[in-house]
Amino acid sequence: MLDVKIKKLSKYLGVEISDINLSKLTLLDFKKIDELLLKYHFLCFKKQKLSPQNQIKFSKFWGELEISDTLPIDKKFKEVSYIIREACDVKCYGGGWHFEYGAHKIGAMGLVLHALEIPETGGETQFINMINMYEKLSFEDKQLLENVKVKKKLSHKLAQKYASDKFLNKMKKIEFENIVPIIKVHPKTNQKILNVDIGFTDSIIGEKIKNKNKLLNKLKDNLNNSEFIYTHKWEVGDVIFFDNRCVLHKAVDNYNSRRVIQRTLIKENSIE
Ligand SMILES: [Fe+2]
Repeated sequence: MLDVKIKKLSKYLGVEISDINLSKLTLLDFKKIDELLLKYHFLCFKKQKLSPQNQIKFSKFWGELEISDTLPIDKKFKEVSYIIREACDVKCYGGGWHFEYGAHKIGAMGLVLHALEIPETGGETQFINMINMYEKLSFEDKQLLENVKVKKKLSHKLAQKYASDKFLNKMKKIEFENIVPIIKVHPKTNQKILNVDIGFTDSIIGEKIKNKNKLLNKLKDNLNNSEFIYTHKWEVGDVIFFDNRCVLHKAVDNYNSRRVIQRTLIKENSIE
């Protein structure tokens, strides 16, 4: 790879990468970026000007891309969508800890987000590395959660909480649920991941655990521990690429001016 500078962004995830132009990458560069993603789970490339076409080219190295049925999509390049908040919007899109597509049968491998317009203050996005959250569990909790399943659920009520009507009206299907392991394994690194978020994780399934609600609430409460949260303060030109298989994210609802993020979503290849 070209001689790039890497700066760690937080204790548990993320690096900032400068001196690289994402519009002009070689195959070797892609492979190196993949290595960095698997090591740090969150990459931020500074001062980029990524056209929709080049964002698709970059994202496709990792897999097939989604065409969003919820967000506005690019007229010409349909795999590119836009997260747009206007000054008059009352709700912020994605304001609770979640894996993207967290209740779907086939989720998202990763997201590429390119900042086009950013408010002068606020509008951050927060991230948590759930490999780390698994590692921080007590030995007893790790034993207890082995082979336990959870119900992941998307309901109309939940969607209403985190998305405006203009998004909800476009969603083809809102109500669905899936039963998945509470500890999942990263398909590339084999690291264990605590598969709990606030939005989609509805309940613990089965008889193995007695105080299921209490335990799930404790796991959810741990997500409020600021020690584990990385808050990204966007700058125009930032391109963020994060591994959605192990990283939770949340939009911070603290601004009232226009914000535009150019987005691509890489689908998971299979159920993992
Ligand atoms: Fe999201």
